[in-house]
Amino acid sequence: MEDKKLIIAIDGPSGAGKSTVGKELAKRLGYLYIDTGAMYRGVALKAKERGIEPEDEKALSQLVSSIQISFTSGGEENRILCDGEDVTHAIRSPEISRFASEISKSRIVREALVRMQREMGKEGGGVLEGRDIGTVVFPDADLKFYLDADPEERGRRRFREFSEKGVEVDFKETLKEVVERDQNDMSRSLSPLKRADDAILIDSTCRSVDEIVGEMCRIVAEKRRWDETDYR
Ligand code: DC
Repeated sequence: MEDKKLIIAIDGPSGAGKSTVGKELAKRLGYLYIDTGAMYRGVALKAKERGIEPEDEKALSQLVSSIQISFTSGGEENRILCDGEDVTHAIRSPEISRFASEISKSRIVREALVRMQREMGKEGGGVLEGRDIGTVVFPDADLKFYLDADPEERGRRRFREFSEKGVEVDFKETLKEVVERDQNDMSRSLSPLKRADDAILIDSTCRSVDEIVGEMCRIVAEKRRWDETDYR
């Protein structure tokens, strides 16, 4: 019998390691990796370019009703295209991080992106990472993980990421932004970041990517064994 293609949700705050771990897990399982934060960032970038304010629901509605978002995985890097334009790097600035968190409060934006995410994952065989995957996008996901880490460590990771890309940032400022963005994402009224009741909590503070992905793979294998015995 062919293995059932699972939907795996990974939620958690910024800098918890969702992308690194999610990409590696998807690679090991031969699954699609869907970075839903990149989708909010893509919409934020396009909104910024058009001078749209986060409160302007009408303009946001026009934007999300026509925007085309797709992912390609060529070589080592997963790329994101918005309306055919490769925005993989442009969406990673501190300015777009803040703006994405702001526009993610919009009902119109969330509804449109959730629809696209459900469509992308409908065949199964997907690792989706974000803030509301296990609670809203796929509440019936086969497996749910909630990845977390100490704020200081998450700030350090973000700082390292920027430094490696040659973006000049101040550590204290980066840490402050990480904490502020968490608060923003956890306190919004629509689909706030929170751990689903049935999500497995993994603290990544002092653990390597390999260790965490290894643990996730063991949980996936256990889930499969469990499902098989259940069917008999
Ligand atoms: O994961 P990220 O840092 O790239 O996400 C950028 C912002 O997008 C984040 O601050 C909140 C928003 N987001 C969201 O509201 N829901 C998701 N599923 C993913 C991201």
